Amino acid sequence: MSALKLEGKVAVIAGGACGMGEAAARLFATHGANVVIADIQDELGAQLAASIGLDKCSYRHCDVTDEAQVKAAVDYAMETHGRLDVMFSYAGVAGPLGSILDIDLDEFDGLMAVNVRGCAAAVKHAARAMVAKGTRGSIICTASVSACPGGRGPTAYVASKRAVLGLVSAASVDLGRHGIRVNCISPFLVATPTICRNTGMSAEEVEEYSSASANLKGVVLKARHIAEAALFLASEESAFISGHNLVVDGATTAAATSGSSPKLFKD
Ligand SMILES: NC(=O)c1ccc[n+]([C@@H]2O[C@H](COP(=O)([O-])OP(=O)(O)OC[C@H]3O[C@@H](n4cnc5c(N)ncnc54)[C@H](O)[C@@H]3O)[C@@H](O)[C@H]2O)c1
Repeated sequence: MSALKLEGKVAVIAGGACGMGEAAARLFATHGANVVIADIQDELGAQLAASIGLDKCSYRHCDVTDEAQVKAAVDYAMETHGRLDVMFSYAGVAGPLGSILDIDLDEFDGLMAVNVRGCAAAVKHAARAMVAKGTRGSIICTASVSACPGGRGPTAYVASKRAVLGLVSAASVDLGRHGIRVNCISPFLVATPTICRNTGMSAEEVEEYSSASANLKGVVLKARHIAEAALFLASEESAFISGHNLVVDGATTAAATSGSSPKLFKD
């Protein structure tokens, strides 16, 4: 197997302008992929594509809540590169944080539109492009430890991420006959720009909190660890893995379900 794990492959990263999506864009390109970053942060996305190299990476504006924009991003990849091998659906938002007692259902709908409907649109249009070309592609969605047994989080967010797990499971069964794999990554707490903004903490403070809460000691969870999990699921190294939820949490949810109960989120 080539040292370059995605040589000649084409990947779309929905929500790839920053954080773990950015780390994946850089890593996928390093491994030989042509990467299309699809996001709503146009300046950041364009800067990232330029810093990776416009021969390996391009940026497209894409709001995943608008199905037509998701289809357009996939069409762009197909027209520019002639194929689509990998879809990494990473875009997500935290949504309303409060109790179910006070939840604003319009905000709830907004959260579902990004985290669930956006993910469904990414799976749908990536799979349609792969089926049309006969490509044995890999689709990767993003859930969360919050959706795992032993995990916790805001009610609306947990509901959205459990829906993503259901989507991945059903789509992997549906698309297996086409040779298309569908998997999911569930990260523990990573110091992304959104997490820092939402918590009012610096990246160092988030990492300190994440490390203190994690079961596995001696490693600080970084965006690149999630990108490496995505690379594994995107590449031929995971050729027979489909319908799987790859939990990247240093056994923190396992510890929570076995009696020791670390806090995954601040109250
Ligand atoms: N950071 C964590 O600790 C953590 C843990 C578990 C799961 N996750 C999941 O990882 C993903 C990203 O997490 P984050 O919030 O920390 O991210 P982030 O800030 O690193 O990036 C999110 C990206 O999604 C993009 N995005 C948001 N709404 C979009 C839309 N409508 N259309 C297209 N792009 C959009 C943003 O512009 C941004 O580039 C989410 O799905 C989140 O639920 C994060």
